[in-house]
Amino acid sequence: MRQPTATQIKWIKAAAFVACLVPLGLLVWRGFAGRLGANPIEYITHSTGWWTLAFLLITLTVTPLRRLTGLNWLLRLRRMLGLYAFFYACLHFTTYFWLDQFFDLAAIVKDVAKRPFVTVGFAAFVLLIPLAATSTNAMVKRIGAKRWQALHRAIYAIAILGVLHFWWLVKKDITEPAIFAVLLALLLGARLVWRARQQATSAQSAAVPRSLAPRAR
Ligand code: HEM
Repeated sequence: MRQPTATQIKWIKAAAFVACLVPLGLLVWRGFAGRLGANPIEYITHSTGWWTLAFLLITLTVTPLRRLTGLNWLLRLRRMLGLYAFFYACLHFTTYFWLDQFFDLAAIVKDVAKRPFVTVGFAAFVLLIPLAATSTNAMVKRIGAKRWQALHRAIYAIAILGVLHFWWLVKKDITEPAIFAVLLALLLGARLVWRARQQATSAQSAAVPRSLAPRAR
């Protein structure tokens, strides 16, 4: 497939940047229009939480989509998408910290320890912080590509914790967390299949020269 030019990629990135702000824009608009429902804090918590999870999954979609389509430039969007996941997580946590708990640290510590779904959400948020902090090129250089990659594998655990958090907090209808769980399973499964195939290919190519080599007498 034809790859876009550098200028086109710049425009795509700018458009994606603006598109990622649409959920926040809608939330702000709803706020000013008085359309946040009977419980605005609950509405904001749910919306920001939902988008955090959605952005985590969208970020995880980039690599399989690139492999399937050969569109390597998609990788150029990955960091921005991951940072948007962190951005919405910060808004989600701030809503909880500020509007829900009114900065009451003792109450927050108690809540994190007491309600398992909050514990899991909090763990996911804490794990996201080092990923956001090491997202720059300078940080990749500083810690080394291998260690950076190993650190950023935490995104899989974060996404799993995010789905668990959602699953745990819903009282009756589990349709939405179940959809997120299936999508995440597919994304992680695709990676496992890819890795297994890669290992099989490299084992095969390693075996060829040996079989061609003359036998020791
Ligand atoms: C990566 C981190 C996180 C993700 C992906 C996430 C995701 C979500 C999702 C999807 C929802 C439900 C949205 C809906 O109903 O449509 C939610 C709700 C909620 N989250 Fe999180 N969350 C995260 C971190 C946190 C943290 C750090 C806290 C607080 C310490 C927190 C507290 C809550 C609360 C209180 C609710 C509303 C629960 C209710 O319905 O009563 N979350 N979150």
